Amino acid sequence: MKKVFVTGGTGFIGSHTVVELIEQGYEPVIVDDLSNSNIEILDQIEQITGKRPTFESFNLIDPVKTDAFIEKHKDMVGIIHFAASKAVGESVADPLKYYQNNFTSLVNILQSMKKHDVKNIVFSSSCTVYGQPDQLPVDENAPVKVAESPYGNTKQVCEEILRDTAKAHPEINGIALRYFNPIGAHHTALIGELPLGVPQNLIPFITQTAKGIREQLQVFGDDYNTPDGTCIRDYIHVVDLAKAHIKAVERMEGGECKSNYEFFNIGTGTGSSVLQVLNAFEKVNGVKVNYKIAPRRSGDVEQVWANTDIANNELGWKAERDLDEMVKSAWAWENYYRDKLSQVIEKVEA
Ligand code: WQD
Repeated sequence: MKKVFVTGGTGFIGSHTVVELIEQGYEPVIVDDLSNSNIEILDQIEQITGKRPTFESFNLIDPVKTDAFIEKHKDMVGIIHFAASKAVGESVADPLKYYQNNFTSLVNILQSMKKHDVKNIVFSSSCTVYGQPDQLPVDENAPVKVAESPYGNTKQVCEEILRDTAKAHPEINGIALRYFNPIGAHHTALIGELPLGVPQNLIPFITQTAKGIREQLQVFGDDYNTPDGTCIRDYIHVVDLAKAHIKAVERMEGGECKSNYEFFNIGTGTGSSVLQVLNAFEKVNGVKVNYKIAPRRSGDVEQVWANTDIANNELGWKAERDLDEMVKSAWAWENYYRDKLSQVIEKVEA
């Protein structure tokens, strides 16, 4: 079995990638500190795939534990590094938490890769590095802009850390995947975006409002220079995003990289406005969402969507799922999760 170390493997994108890895014949080994996920996800992964991945829980800012884990699994094909703090708003309030967590964990991993001769790493980056692009769709040659938030800055600087490490150590292979907006859930509805706390992102807020958990969705601004006045994003199904990671691992495993540091836009190439997403959600799921137009949210870029030619041609990867499937699967997950939660609560109250 080809072992792949998945950091943050019980998280939203991590868990979907672990499922795809298992289904492609890989053996994922997971480290997650469970700060933004929960261990039951391992049960769901096992229910979907019939396999329960190896799992350890610790924070990767601990260099001793990180090194010991990488040494123990140094026969791995490579690492997919998801684990990071990722809430834009929180990063503005607590930048040092973001710089410590996101930089230290990556540096610890890279140090141990050098030490134990682990060659390949896929890094979870973000379209946030582009800020508001001058040209749309945005391609990989677009300039990286001054980040709007410490979170976005950690993605930019982590890409530079990876790039400089690859430059100094030709034996290391790095691929950064610049995600656009991952949404939706696995078609079984057994895994999805765990809603811990008040959702910051659009889709969990929509599904929780539809479920009656939130009173009303606020649409942050309808006075942008877009067709319906609301912001445009490139929403991508989380399963399509997960599959892009398999392609990246296969590319490195197969020695197909054109250089030992590459980066790819992982989006659909299609932009959708907030109101378009809302309307699709209501139409596909036959539910109404209570919303109002609210003031703009600071830090939001007006519109961004991906040019995915390089990912399509170089990685041999293309998004397959459309917006309807994304919002349908998000709603199915919300219902599954709430029903499961209520069963747990009933059991506890019984
Ligand atoms: C999308 C659109 C909001 C909530 C960020 C990060 C990105 C990634 C995903 C981590 C915007 C609008 C949202 C709401 C709204 N982070 N919105 N009402 O900001 O594009 O991307 O999260 O993986 O790296 O930058 O995603 O879902 O927060 O917002 O109107 O209650 O929905 O204004 O236009 P965003 P988002």
